[in-house]
Amino acid sequence: MAPRVLVTNEMPRAWLAVLERSGLELLLPPTGGLDYEMLVTTAPQADAIVSLLSDRIDARVLEAGASGQLRVVSNVAVGVDNIDLDSARSLGITVCNTPRVLDAATADLAMLLILSACRHSSEAEGVLRRGEWGGWALTGFLGKDLEQATLGLVGYGGIAQAVERRAAGFDMRVLHHARRPTGCPGYVATLSELLEASDVVSVHVPLTPATRGLIGTEEIRRIPRGGVLVNTARGGIVDEEALAGALEDRHLAGAGLDVFVGEPHLSPRLAASPNLMVVPHIGSATIGARRRMAELACEGVVEVLAGRRPSNAVGQR
Ligand code: GLV
Repeated sequence: MAPRVLVTNEMPRAWLAVLERSGLELLLPPTGGLDYEMLVTTAPQADAIVSLLSDRIDARVLEAGASGQLRVVSNVAVGVDNIDLDSARSLGITVCNTPRVLDAATADLAMLLILSACRHSSEAEGVLRRGEWGGWALTGFLGKDLEQATLGLVGYGGIAQAVERRAAGFDMRVLHHARRPTGCPGYVATLSELLEASDVVSVHVPLTPATRGLIGTEEIRRIPRGGVLVNTARGGIVDEEALAGALEDRHLAGAGLDVFVGEPHLSPRLAASPNLMVVPHIGSATIGARRRMAELACEGVVEVLAGRRPSNAVGQR
């Protein structure tokens, strides 16, 4: 019998072609995707699962899969905070993700948020659409100059480095902080120093127990007054109450969020912040990036089921 791959959510069939070419059987989801309970009951039938970041792949799902023959969970995302990695490891289930192929798209979105938050475009557009614009004014909607501003990157993986290249084109000065020295120009040894030196801060670390709440009240207040904070990584890394407070008292001139706690529901306090540019987790949402992500996730499945360790296995790099 051909090994079976459970696909948790609908996706274009062409993106799954490598699975079919490799002779694997697809277990396709119903319209609207598998919900959590369906995932638990279907997992024992699967040798592999292709999941999305919105699927909760916890110990219960993994144990259900291990009661059958589940060998790999491949997440169509670079972040794997939706998967219980410890359980997967102890059950011998490989976890794959999709690094690199979304770096450019996500960096583009980070730049969009940086530009928008610095230039108050969301707020200005709202004023215009509501018919409240009184006309051109010399001091209307004054924003932050990007030229010669310092951009501080929290984390220095592929996405952060792609943001750095883009920011250089806007004549920004770019610094970065990572847990280990990178040996690259612009490295700053501590997060505090990075925040204190930055006009704009952009977050690019994965959500792990160590990074949950990494940017709290104290960290936000270290960014000089009038600064901007952008997060395209994961909601839980930035303390949203602290962020909302800093936007309300204008310690921060603006913020840009692609991700937030409790997705898809934005907190009412953040939703009420005019100086927040917010979009619904679309960092990698380009045709090319999403297709490559799906393909790479499927390639990981094929490799694991063939008895090889793929380069996109988590913990491999
Ligand atoms: C998107 O947020 C991803 O982790 O790929």
